[in-house]
Amino acid sequence: MSSLLIKNGFIVTAEKSFYADILIVDEKIVEIGKDIKKKILNLEIIDAKGYFVLPGGVDPHVHMSLKTGSIVSADDFESGTKAAIKGGTTTIIDFVTPLKERSLLKELYDRKKVASKSLCDYGLHMSISYWHEGIKEEIIKCMENEGITSFKVYMAYQDTIGVNDEDVISIMNFMSMYNVLVAIHCENGKIIASYHKKFLSEGKTKPIYHALSRPEETEIEAVKKAISFSKRTNCPIYIVHVSTGQSIKEVEKAQHQGVKIFAETCPHYLLLDKREYNKSDFDSAMYVMSPPLRSGSNKRELWEALKKGVIQCVSTDHCPFNLKWQKELGINDFTKIPNGVGGVRERLALIYTYGVLKKRFSLNHFVNLTSTMPAKTFGLYPKKGTIEKNSDADVVLWNFGYKGKITKKNLLQNCYTNIYEGFKIRANPHIVIIRGKIAFRDNEILVRPGYGNYLYRSKVKCSIPVHRSS
Ligand code: URP
Ligand code: ZN
Ligand code: ZN
Repeated sequence: MSSLLIKNGFIVTAEKSFYADILIVDEKIVEIGKDIKKKILNLEIIDAKGYFVLPGGVDPHVHMSLKTGSIVSADDFESGTKAAIKGGTTTIIDFVTPLKERSLLKELYDRKKVASKSLCDYGLHMSISYWHEGIKEEIIKCMENEGITSFKVYMAYQDTIGVNDEDVISIMNFMSMYNVLVAIHCENGKIIASYHKKFLSEGKTKPIYHALSRPEETEIEAVKKAISFSKRTNCPIYIVHVSTGQSIKEVEKAQHQGVKIFAETCPHYLLLDKREYNKSDFDSAMYVMSPPLRSGSNKRELWEALKKGVIQCVSTDHCPFNLKWQKELGINDFTKIPNGVGGVRERLALIYTYGVLKKRFSLNHFVNLTSTMPAKTFGLYPKKGTIEKNSDADVVLWNFGYKGKITKKNLLQNCYTNIYEGFKIRANPHIVIIRGKIAFRDNEILVRPGYGNYLYRSKVKCSIPVHRSS
């Protein structure tokens, strides 16, 4: 039996902030109270005076070891979860992405093997890239035997994993019978493909054409379509990586109409904008992700939507590629630049620094957006996403006295470029605990590859988003 007593902490959850001690026995929080005094053999006492004590971060959208064409994204489950832990994230949700006609279950078992070296706990969403009668049985097995309660469809990438409208409707019809969530990558793949063709035929090959071939309307139109499909099928949906203010207006309108719609955005859409595509040489390729970075006014609207609760989750879509050998595949053709950027290490520090300290929302709401709502939305709450008796002991001692800058040198991830290079941050984790074990302290990772558990998830734990102002 191992035991930890966190003393003198200022605990911050999505709901409240208070001074108390936390007693952890093995993997669980067993008591929260004032001045806990226990005589337990080998009890380790941690003094949390001067730190905020937060529930571990939950990042509901990452891609470790993502295969795309002939390459694999820079971070695998080992390097990616080291980076996550170092940033205060103790749970990630990654994806199984079967190509068309592949068995979902076989791909899931393979993916679990790849993920088994994760250092933090992890769940998996299942992507559906092909719809046919026979798939239904596999989906039910995913739900019943594997605790998978969220399924992803891509409206983009039509020539690989994308799904046409008719199939999206069939998928939603089916999922609505089980009340499980359909996560949607909203971009109109056909329009994007026609821009690709046009630009390449005109000899326009630079990274900026990635952004120009995916104008805001390609996302907004797809969001509108997803909402209309959700209304038609009564299927709860989750719009991933929303990048435009207009998309959010559509989401908010639908929420007011009672549509079961949730949304996420990512730090890069909140903090960066399309000016990054004007960089010289090939450096703009670092910022090639889908959807692309937008004009500055969108950032303001996204922050506002986070504050109001129209967007419930901040994820990272962590999927970095190195400039050399990887992004460089598209040096003569922007359509060949692998899509994706990192962020799993930086998410909490960035959202705290630019959200809470810029007075955009409260400390409690920061916890809500980065931990509690992701856990509730994806069926992990109250095991994850909070500090409560019987919850998993995933706890972060948050050093709000820290002053530093993001640098690629100290990230513990496999990508040597960083889109947030030089960004000031005003907090960082001091200690990170995962299921009762100290996973990070004194700048050192203390758990081994394989410590992370696969998470069986229940259904969405929250009703239609309630708008709040904090
Ligand atoms: O550019 C991105 N977002 N890459 C990762 C795959 C996806 O679309 O989520
Ligand atoms: Zn996507
Ligand atoms: Zn993604």
